[in-house]
Amino acid sequence: MATERTLSIIKPDATARNITGKIIDKLETAGLRIVAQKRIKLSEERAGEFYAVHKDRPFYNDLVSFMASGPVVVQVLEGENAIAKNREVMGATNPKEAAPGTIRAEFAESIDANSVHGSDAPETAKEEIAFFFSDDEIVG
Ligand code: PPS
Repeated sequence: MATERTLSIIKPDATARNITGKIIDKLETAGLRIVAQKRIKLSEERAGEFYAVHKDRPFYNDLVSFMASGPVVVQVLEGENAIAKNREVMGATNPKEAAPGTIRAEFAESIDANSVHGSDAPETAKEEIAFFFSDDEIVG
């Protein structure tokens, strides 16, 4: 299995509740290594650009304002099969459907305030990592 990198975002609902450490513990316990990390506040413009793929969805405006509503922690995670592994430890988008023990089952409040984002495929991971990090900010 190949070593991969994926982008993770700890969302404003989680930074507001001061549970970034609990989320990081889940990621690291799953075997994912944080090779880059920063805490930032997204502008609505930046959040809108990041989620542009969803711009025609009915929830787009809500998603963008939520992601710009408070600090987020953006991370590059590295490990074997990291993209799928991160999605597994995150759990389903809707916390009501998330498997027990996953981040969203334990910590998410709703389908939008769902604590974490993770890239869904190798191409999006590459683009999303480049959206937030330059090569010299990633230390494997
Ligand atoms: S898809 O098509 O599978 O990518 O869509 P999905 O994973 O269901 O959702 C994409 C992101 O949109 C967020 N979302 C919402 N935000 C606000 N309101 C509503 N109703 C809503 N439904 C979905 C969801 O949290 C996903 O965020 P990310 O950061 O991509 O996980």
